[in-house]
Amino acid sequence: MNSLVDPSPEAEPRFSLHDFAPVQESFEDALVQGLAAPQKAIPARFLYDEAGSRLFDRICELPEYYATRTELKILTDQAAEIAAAIGPDIALLEFGAGSSQKARLLLDALDRPAAYEPIDVSREHLVQLAEEIADGYPGLAVRAICADYTQPLELPDSETRRRRAGFFPGSTIGNLTETDARAFLSGWAGQLGRDGLMVVGVALRAPQAIVLPAYDDAQGVTARFTANVLVRANRELGADFDVAAFRHTPDYDEATGKMTIHLTSLEAQTVHVAGRSFTFAERERLHVEDSNKYAVGDFQALARSAGYVAETVWVDPRELFSVHVLRVA
Ligand code: AVI
Repeated sequence: MNSLVDPSPEAEPRFSLHDFAPVQESFEDALVQGLAAPQKAIPARFLYDEAGSRLFDRICELPEYYATRTELKILTDQAAEIAAAIGPDIALLEFGAGSSQKARLLLDALDRPAAYEPIDVSREHLVQLAEEIADGYPGLAVRAICADYTQPLELPDSETRRRRAGFFPGSTIGNLTETDARAFLSGWAGQLGRDGLMVVGVALRAPQAIVLPAYDDAQGVTARFTANVLVRANRELGADFDVAAFRHTPDYDEATGKMTIHLTSLEAQTVHVAGRSFTFAERERLHVEDSNKYAVGDFQALARSAGYVAETVWVDPRELFSVHVLRVA
């Protein structure tokens, strides 16, 4: 850790900020490298600039996008049971500074939670979330950790041997490849320690007629969300993508649960980025995101292979979403 910063030196500090000063790959480098690859690709994390994050918030409200509301319903309806499975006096370590809504559902239900520790690369989002939680839970220790949670790091005061529960909601784990999801889980198993827990929200493998429209909504919000990465490249990097010459193309394989999203070039064209030219053939695809869905047993097997015991799982009645409690083996 590079520094421990008091975020509000004049006022009584309401939370601590542990800043690991994460170095983020530049959009330009990632884009140039991704466009030069045989299978063109842009890493999905670049979807979330300000406009992309706003569009994602709108996706969560869409009638077709069931994941957010289904997970919230499970966390609301099963809060007492989930809290009982986690146990008392735990530090809750949330991966990603999303909305505070899901963390609040757990914190409200937990027996004497010891601390809340959100971890995110965006200092701004992190501080906002830490402030919200510190305001709402006056006696709770709030430690914001500015870091890339996909990289190994030493947690603050891990020597106190405080029991920790990781919290990874939203089925964000589905945006990782299976290999990366296993690496994420096994990497954190060491940090969470013996008796540490991981609470993970995972979208379930479900019929195509339900899953595909969630990524191809009638209002075209998801299409705008993916195309926004090209708009961003034009604005931030002076690229010249003809955004209208690419189509949002989600594909879902019901047998494997793999959802893959591409932007498909509608014509043969050349794009310029950072002084380099990249040609697209007609129908050539630019990969922008994976969103893997898992059957309950398949996710539990993945968790076991990463060093956990799959303890409990809650599923909604339509079997679209699951919330797993895993224990470090
Ligand atoms: C953030 N993540 C879990 C979303 C998902 O469902 O994979 C991102 C998303 N992409 C298109 N729609 C939603």
